[in-house]
Amino acid sequence: MIKFFKQDLNKSIFIKALDNFKNDLWVNGKIINKFENNLKKTLKIQQKVSTCNSGSDALLLTLLLDKNSKKDIYITTPISYLASSSIPRFLGLNLIYIDVEKDGYIMCLKELEKFLNKCPIQIQKRLKGIINVELFGATCNLIKLKKIAYKNNLTLIGDCAQSLGTKFKNKSTISYYDYSFTSFYPTKVLSCYGDGGAVFLKKNLNKLNLLKNNGHSFKDKSTCKELGINSRLDSIQAYILNNKLKNLNKNIALKTKFHKILRKFIENKYNFSKFKKEIKSNSYVFPVRVPAKSRSKFIKFMRSKKVECKIFYNKLIPDNKLLKPIFKTDLKNARKLTKTLVCLPSHNELKIKDIHKIGNLFKEFNF
Ligand SMILES: Cc1ncc(COP(=O)(O)O)c(C=O)c1O
Repeated sequence: MIKFFKQDLNKSIFIKALDNFKNDLWVNGKIINKFENNLKKTLKIQQKVSTCNSGSDALLLTLLLDKNSKKDIYITTPISYLASSSIPRFLGLNLIYIDVEKDGYIMCLKELEKFLNKCPIQIQKRLKGIINVELFGATCNLIKLKKIAYKNNLTLIGDCAQSLGTKFKNKSTISYYDYSFTSFYPTKVLSCYGDGGAVFLKKNLNKLNLLKNNGHSFKDKSTCKELGINSRLDSIQAYILNNKLKNLNKNIALKTKFHKILRKFIENKYNFSKFKKEIKSNSYVFPVRVPAKSRSKFIKFMRSKKVECKIFYNKLIPDNKLLKPIFKTDLKNARKLTKTLVCLPSHNELKIKDIHKIGNLFKEFNF
């Protein structure tokens, strides 16, 4: 069976780790700083890096840093993993969803501008920021998005949980945001053996360190300077990530090669959305669109040929009672896409012959 995802398991990392922890701490060890610096160097970014316990915590910490008592509304997209909306709602913040591009899964900037131009003044006054979800490793025109955010006095937050390594105009997408965050969850392009995440930020690092350490500094654990939580990346996870970091660019290059091959098979079958030249995706996941009426038949067909495909985000986030928007918008593109989305396996343990098999089966299926 060609599985959709293969969990990474490298025994030698654990053996080497045992040696490392003869001289380091399990919590707040020296390896944390080392990994954060190496990540910054690998991504070639100016932003500061601060690790924490998960991508979800990274968003929670970011929103705490961006807190403003008068402004409580964030703009985001309706197709994503729940966390990009559930975390703001958990903090009592409100959401407005902007539709995605017609042939992609990323916020449509035209729709965003249209909304900002016609949005009622009482809503406009409460807008705090944009959470731009870089779903499946894709992104939008980040220069344009930055201009829109600046013009409307909005904090620009990047949900880069799925897009670590993605570039816009040859720079990591992280460089374009006021705050951004990623996840090291086991399926991600840089993954640990458990949960992990990181915040990327230009300012407020000291405050973030307090927020993720129950409000205290390292020197004085008795004084609470901020109301915070305990959200630190375990040192063992930092050790694993630091080891895997060396292969990040190589892994992305391999996945990109797989995607290129798959795209060739699929292009003839239907008009596949191509990335604009200035976007270099990390090739996290390979999404395709299958007519809604044949979607389950397609998944069954692939399974019968021993290929596991997956449907993600079957339901739009705002269709959850708990995650409803404060102001309704038209989400017709997202609604259409979510009924047709299928993801093909493209993890980096696959062989070229597996990719050819997947591509040929896609071609063979009668939609
Ligand atoms: C788009 C997106 N946002 C946020 C998250 C949350 O990350 P984590 O699972 O590490 O909490 C994920 C992870 O699955 C994600 O895919």
